[in-house]
Amino acid sequence: MAAPTVPGSSPGTPTTEPGRRAAIGARTLRTDRWWVPPALTAVGLTAWVLYALVRTALQNYYVVPEYGYLTPFYSPCLSQSCDPAAAHFGRPLPEFPPLVPYAILALPFLLGFRLTCYYYRKAYYRSFWLSPPACAVPDGHKKYTGETRFPLLAQNLHRYFFYAAVIISIINTYDAIIAFAGDEGFQMGLGNLILLGNVVLLWAYTASCHSCRHIAGGRMKHFSKNPTRYWLWTQISKLNTRHMQLAWITLGTLAFTDAYIALVAADVIPDLRFIN
Ligand code: FES
Repeated sequence: MAAPTVPGSSPGTPTTEPGRRAAIGARTLRTDRWWVPPALTAVGLTAWVLYALVRTALQNYYVVPEYGYLTPFYSPCLSQSCDPAAAHFGRPLPEFPPLVPYAILALPFLLGFRLTCYYYRKAYYRSFWLSPPACAVPDGHKKYTGETRFPLLAQNLHRYFFYAAVIISIINTYDAIIAFAGDEGFQMGLGNLILLGNVVLLWAYTASCHSCRHIAGGRMKHFSKNPTRYWLWTQISKLNTRHMQLAWITLGTLAFTDAYIALVAADVIPDLRFIN
């Protein structure tokens, strides 16, 4: 059916009378490669999740006792199955059967934090759920209920996952700092710098969280009466503009840190030592 044309408009333009939607037959009028970003996102997230699943199920090559390196994928390591050098907070939990991740207590919170993150929501709604896959491209589903029902209602828990993520970031920071303390005093290798860089970026990602920004400056009527909170809110707002980049960078640094420690632990590569 031809699109109704408003008198006076140029021929071929799919216009309509006021109050009526244009009758456009094409699925989308976009002519660019709009499908590339969601496709790349799907590939990147799938690859990362597969890597993390395999690494956490392997139960090996997660610690280098000689240099005090512990991969963040196995921290905190609280099971009797953990290598004593990895148990920075003791081993109060019983032995774990094969395939159960040693950091089972932290992983649900970390996963919850990332899954409910405002950026990742956009990313997987577009790339996996096609809702919608891109701007000006129709939704892949007939019905849209937003985040008003279970399970998407749970996205509201993000602010609580934020608090858990702060605790886990503190633990990761402790792991990174304690690795500088060797039997013969201060020690430093490339692994230390990688662990340190990873926690700095993890803090940047965590601090750039929208919930963190709200905690710092939300619900205030007068910034002028709360200069400290205003300053904090301003700094977090600057970081917040980089939240998407930090989300991807920290996925990369987490996997890279884990892979480096696994390769050193497995004696595939030596650690580059600077001090001791
Ligand atoms: S919005 Fe992304 S971590 Fe909070």
